[in-house]
Amino acid sequence: MEAQRAESMPGMVGRSRALQEVCALIRKVAPTNLSVLILGENGTGKELIAQAIHWESKRANGPFVPVNCAGLPDTLVESELFGHEKGAFTGATARRKGKFEYADGGDIFLDEIGDMPIIAQAKTLRVLQERTVERIGANESKKIDVRVISATNKDLERAVEERTFRADLFYRLKGVVIKAPPLRERKEDIPLLARSFMDVFAREAEQDVRIISRPAMEALMDYAFPGNVRELKNIIERAVALSEGPEITVRDLCELTSTAAASDDYWDCCGVCSSELLSALKSIPASERHSQQSWHLTLKCTNIETIHGFLVATNGEQFSRYEFSNYLSMFSKNARNKYGTVGDYLSILRSNGIVVRNNGKANQARFRLHGDFVKNAEGL
Ligand SMILES: Nc1ncnc2c1ncn2[C@@H]1O[C@H](COP(=O)(O)OP(=O)(O)OP(=O)(O)O)[C@@H](O)[C@H]1O
Ligand SMILES: [Mg+2]
Repeated sequence: MEAQRAESMPGMVGRSRALQEVCALIRKVAPTNLSVLILGENGTGKELIAQAIHWESKRANGPFVPVNCAGLPDTLVESELFGHEKGAFTGATARRKGKFEYADGGDIFLDEIGDMPIIAQAKTLRVLQERTVERIGANESKKIDVRVISATNKDLERAVEERTFRADLFYRLKGVVIKAPPLRERKEDIPLLARSFMDVFAREAEQDVRIISRPAMEALMDYAFPGNVRELKNIIERAVALSEGPEITVRDLCELTSTAAASDDYWDCCGVCSSELLSALKSIPASERHSQQSWHLTLKCTNIETIHGFLVATNGEQFSRYEFSNYLSMFSKNARNKYGTVGDYLSILRSNGIVVRNNGKANQARFRLHGDFVKNAEGL
């Protein structure tokens, strides 16, 4: 399936309402000269938004100059942004243009603006107010035509209160504020993004990978993505490399599985884990929770009541194969290999007084693994 572009915004995939609203705002502000401040968590696409603003504007023929304000040591930041004349300071052996000058006629993108050293903040404010730039050591300033797009994942209002960020600069920067929504608030974009990344990485690696299995997609949909779109992109890149056929399966999403398992909170969420199992699992370092050892422990500690309790508590819902294997602290692949397939799962449930709404194939696939487990656990 061809990934849907967000109303043909370059490079931006997704059709969630939240993303469409961002795109609409981009189109509105792009033709203006207003400063734009983009806020959002890591990996939500802030730089992509900045680029889109540039491409959608009449400045698209001019330069787009990104500057990472966090990556610059205090001593270099001024020279980097504003340039210097030859001999302006020790080591200034030649005259140098700053990023603001390079961006003349286009856009400068001040990334991680929340980390800009306070001295550079004052000078940046002057550029914004006067629309001129002065190289260090220069006697005169030069007129420039630059729009400023900035981005941060920091709480700038708080930084202003704490006096680590200048209030006057903050107000200058936020001509228009665009909030990049976290991926967990627009889950409907996950399948489109995942498929689009799969296509790109498969093409790059000249690998024939073109399908994401249903359980794998379920696992992606279940995951909270603290690292947002960048994390999804990394996960898919790895999955394409690991996949052994045309299909990405849960097995190829190992990073995602281990991230979930790495959190102690995750186990606390499994309210129906027996306390014995819980403490056994917690005694194993997070990095080894998928090991054989943890698997044996799981088997030893898990009893039929635990499994039934889990099923009753979740009413057979909100429970994917991925969650189940996580619950058992093992890879899906191992769970599948170990328990094989058992067709009579629903009848096992029914004979235990558990009512399951049968929604057809999807549910059967969902429940098969539980059944496998129940049957095997009974023998323990
Ligand atoms: N809507 C989207 N469609 C396609 N790719 C996206 C989308 N949003 C983000 N990406 C991709 O995700 C990755 C991270 O995006 P980007 O660098 O713009 O995020 P960021 O918010 O600037 O991250 P950070 O806060 O870590 O600097 C990039 O590779 C980008 O191309
Ligand atoms: Mg960024």
